[in-house]
Amino acid sequence: MSFPIVRNRRLRGSNALRSLVRENNVTVNDLIYPIFVTHGSQIKDEISSMPGVYHFSLDRLEEELNEVVALGIKAILLFGVPADKDALGSSAYDHNGIVQQATRSIKKLYPELLVIADTCLCQFTDHGHCGVVHFDKSTQRADVLNDPSLELLVKTAVAQAEAGADIIAPSNMMDGFVYAIRQGLDEAGYDQVPIMSYAVKYSSSFYGPFRDAAHSAPQFGDRKTYQMDPANAREALREAEADVVEGADFLMVKPAMAYMDIIRTLRDQFDLPLVCYNVSAEYSMVKAAAKQGWIDERSIVSEMMIGFKRAGADLIITYFAKDVAGWLRENH
Ligand code: PBG
Repeated sequence: MSFPIVRNRRLRGSNALRSLVRENNVTVNDLIYPIFVTHGSQIKDEISSMPGVYHFSLDRLEEELNEVVALGIKAILLFGVPADKDALGSSAYDHNGIVQQATRSIKKLYPELLVIADTCLCQFTDHGHCGVVHFDKSTQRADVLNDPSLELLVKTAVAQAEAGADIIAPSNMMDGFVYAIRQGLDEAGYDQVPIMSYAVKYSSSFYGPFRDAAHSAPQFGDRKTYQMDPANAREALREAEADVVEGADFLMVKPAMAYMDIIRTLRDQFDLPLVCYNVSAEYSMVKAAAKQGWIDERSIVSEMMIGFKRAGADLIITYFAKDVAGWLRENH
């Protein structure tokens, strides 16, 4: 009778043994929770495609923040759903824009809670694109103009920093946005405000529910001329490299689940803190299946989270952050 030479099962024999040899862990410090704020009063509207996620008016925000802080979550990612949109997305950089107002009230209530401001124009433009659109009548072509968009994005980032945002997170995918925003922030006196760059952002169908939530679907065309082709991996290195050179403080990969290879590649190639964005459809799919009773939400979500860490992410932006934080407490 011959015996196996290697017995990997020896280290799996008990809970304690498995804990001892566990290579990765998720902690509450890894979690960033997205919050949607809107104008009006007494609004707490559930986003139908994202059960458990709400639009909050400023006067209802406190109850959400209380929960977030009580769970030990250190950072939120703020998205604004403005009342008014125009071609140049001017409410994005208005001193009294919704994100700026929300930031001021959050910092007043919870100065320690990190406010990460998403810096983009698509929620604020009437055409729903992330920059300035030029329409050429003769060719019937609409182009998103890179450099004119940068100016508006810089104004947006500065207005967000002025309002007290702790971290600026540009998600627009224009070329040179990190450099432009870094310069703009420095000139305005915000040289200590870090940039969390959506360095590698794919043109993804996984953003569908978010676009319902943020009312930010493009009114014509798509985002393929600025967001990345899901087929490309080497290009992710070029995007990330550019952002590192331009002064990014964090790199992000978005979406997460279908892009684990990209998370790993960036982890191996760059030393900056790495963030992955577990996006809206990744959330909604789990919610929908759980509601049907087809999957066990808690164990599925926990496995997704540890998968992101194993792939190399330091931080996870996720709509599940409150659930995960709660489960981590219970596990203790
Ligand atoms: C804005 C932005 C988007 C998301 C985050 N910031 C949408 C998009 O690019 O269309 C998506 C987030 C999600 O799906 O959860 N540019």
